[in-house]
Amino acid sequence: MKKFAQEYTLSNGKKLVLRTPQLGDEQGLIDQMKIVDKETKFLARGEGEFNFTLEQEREFISACLDDENRFFLVAEIESKIVGNCSVGLISSNKRYLHRASMGIAICKNYWNNGIGTRMMNECINWCKSQGLEQLELEVVTENSRAIPVYEKLGFKIYGTKKHAMKYAEGTYADEFFMILFLNE
Ligand SMILES: CC(C)(COP(=O)(O)OP(=O)(O)OC[C@H]1O[C@@H](n2cnc3c(N)ncnc32)[C@H](O)[C@@H]1OP(=O)(O)O)[C@@H](O)C(=O)NCCC(=O)NCCS
Repeated sequence: MKKFAQEYTLSNGKKLVLRTPQLGDEQGLIDQMKIVDKETKFLARGEGEFNFTLEQEREFISACLDDENRFFLVAEIESKIVGNCSVGLISSNKRYLHRASMGIAICKNYWNNGIGTRMMNECINWCKSQGLEQLELEVVTENSRAIPVYEKLGFKIYGTKKHAMKYAEGTYADEFFMILFLNE
């Protein structure tokens, strides 16, 4: 994976570091993912479902670092991981090599400080540097915080997947399929 590290000053004056993860980040990443899974119903996992051990997380980071077709960023504030995002090819089959997909999750305490927009922009830059043609994502139709961020960056809705998620209490969530065309 291409290495990346950049510092930004947020509107609240705090320093944000966006960087590719490294070995040693496993506990910080596990903690951050457990927090966001608990804070939002818009992610793929519910509370308590993420149960990687330190060793498994270390192997995951190591595999990402070796993967040329993936770009993975952590957001760090005051040396604490508060967010992560990941973008990669949807498939290594030749017919899909123009398409990437991404996911992003930031801890609630840090929402609405411009972190998500900055992370998304770096993912878009990576896609462009790879010569990719389209960046895709799926988002719960009720995720009224995320959708405007994606639209601001140029993503458009191209379809709806009915009942994409089923919650423990038996209700469903639909998802929009959104695409950003990178050469437009
Ligand atoms: C969605 C998410 C990544 C956005 O990240 P963020 O750091 O909060 O986003 P930013 O601060 O860059 O941008 C937030 C924008 O939403 C706007 N906003 C703030 N509160 C809002 C609200 N209640 N409803 C709609 N928009 C809102 C802000 O004004 C800002 O727009 P602006 O840049 O034009 O001023 C983050 O909220 C998150 O991780 N949520 C939980 C996990 C999740 O839903 N992930 C996406 C799964 S597809």
